[in-house]
Amino acid sequence: MKNILVVGGAGYIGSHMVKMLLAHGYHVVTLDNLSGGYRDAVLGGDFVFGDLADKTCLNYLFKGYQFDGVMHFASFIQVGESVKLPGKYYQNNFANTLNLLDTMVAHGVKNFIFSSTAAIFGEPHYIPVDEAHPKNPINAYGSSKMMVERALQDYDSAHQLKSVCLRYFNAAGADPEGQLGERHLPETHLIPLVLHAAHGKLPQLTIFGQDYDTPDGTCVRDYVHINDLCQAHLLALQQLLAGGNSAVYNLGNGEGFSIRQVIEIARQITGKSIPIVIGERRGGDPARLVADSRLARQQLGWQPQYAELPTIIQHAWQWELTQ
Ligand code: UFG
Repeated sequence: MKNILVVGGAGYIGSHMVKMLLAHGYHVVTLDNLSGGYRDAVLGGDFVFGDLADKTCLNYLFKGYQFDGVMHFASFIQVGESVKLPGKYYQNNFANTLNLLDTMVAHGVKNFIFSSTAAIFGEPHYIPVDEAHPKNPINAYGSSKMMVERALQDYDSAHQLKSVCLRYFNAAGADPEGQLGERHLPETHLIPLVLHAAHGKLPQLTIFGQDYDTPDGTCVRDYVHINDLCQAHLLALQQLLAGGNSAVYNLGNGEGFSIRQVIEIARQITGKSIPIVIGERRGGDPARLVADSRLARQQLGWQPQYAELPTIIQHAWQWELTQ
């Protein structure tokens, strides 16, 4: 049985990943400092409470388990906050990730799957965005992830540490079986906030700017189902465990939806009114981000199962109603 370390396995994407790995017969160890995750979201395997800043903890962990691969989901993710507090993002997302990579090298663990992001591209020069698109992040969140991608090239050259960087566009939705979902505190992501407004937990949804260069003036994003993202991780892991080379893939559905379109679909699915107000632009937001994911389809054999936005929102709503 292969033994996989999931760093950040108590968080939104990590917890769905742990569930999928367990269902596929892997032994899973979750490392999480519970700064953004929940112990009860880890549905199985071993749980270790710890922080990537703590090299001693990492060393003990890697002494105690012989890992075949590491998946790293533990990072700060708020684009707006990263513009205001860049040091927080460089420290946790970049510097602490180096601690993890150095521990892997010290213990001879060679396979690494990294949660990267569309935010490394900044304002796209063309749409859809493929892997060759220039990287020019416009917020510290994106820069911190780009720096890890760059470091991984050097760790491969120097230490033969193989990695797959998966650049998510907008992760959304929830476990189709209803056991897991998005629980950020504070919540900043669009779809859960739209659903909070539909549920009456929020009086209204604020649209951050409607003067962007897009058809209705609101930002356009490519929403991808959390289970489809996890499926891509599983395929990437299998590729590395079979001796594959390092790679990077963009993960999205190739279709962009504006904030107003998201709200309209949510109104139809929930049957609720969703009051909106128009606010100022949020710092660090590109107007449009849409993925070209052909490479992941060709090389990993990735086939999203839940590509339709109404399905993604339906699963998120099913989760929201349990909260
Ligand atoms: N938005 C609003 N009102 C809100 C919340 C969000 O108008 O209350 C807008 C944002 O300004 C943005 C869009 O909805 O235009 C989507 O915002 P999210 O915060 O849901 O997602 P982001 O596109 O900012 O960021 C997400 C992840 C990042 C990832 C990025 C890549 O948080 O980790 O997608 O596109 F890098």
